[in-house]
Amino acid sequence: MTRTRIITGLLAIGLLAVSTMTFAPLVTDVLAHKGASGVVKIRMEAMKDMKNDLKKIEQMLEGKKSYSSAKVHKALDNIRDHAGAQMSKLFPEGTGQKPSEADPSIWTNWDEFKKMAVSLNHSTDEFRAKLPEKINKDALKSLQKDALGIRRVCKECHDRFRL
Ligand code: HEC
Repeated sequence: MTRTRIITGLLAIGLLAVSTMTFAPLVTDVLAHKGASGVVKIRMEAMKDMKNDLKKIEQMLEGKKSYSSAKVHKALDNIRDHAGAQMSKLFPEGTGQKPSEADPSIWTNWDEFKKMAVSLNHSTDEFRAKLPEKINKDALKSLQKDALGIRRVCKECHDRFRL
């Protein structure tokens, strides 16, 4: 009896550990947004959308998901919709307080920030121009490299303007 109880207890702990592990990323995500509201929340969600879109593209290029030209274009459209003026519009002056991770230097280097937001448009356009009519293994491989061009713009701005 006691033994069964101990085993059941251990099982429960094990299950708890597994479920905590499974949900951990979700929990941190929610916490990261805790307290964010208004335009800050909107831009965080827009950024996360782009992250998902880019991931979708990369998974198709890596063969983890089956390639669909329509889906790649759709994801690129979504990123483009969030880029450029659409993006800088979501960073009005005075919105850098916690929980935002926006570096206040955005507003002392506004032109540079705006330019980086626009370069995201260019990088998606450049990538789109490279999409071939017919996809094969070699094309996927070289597109993987090309997609890094988009990722580089995200990273450049985060290194410069995200806390
Ligand atoms: C022009 C600058 C700029 C570009 C380009 C940019 N970001 Fe961001 N990103 C930021 C800033 C600033 C923040 C912090 C926003 C805040 O916390 O208020 C951020 C935050 C994020 C976050 C965290 C959102 C959250 O939930 O807190 C993710 C994810 C993200 N960006 C993904 C991307 C991806 C993917 C790209 C490229 C496709 C990209 N970003 C391009 C400036 C940029």
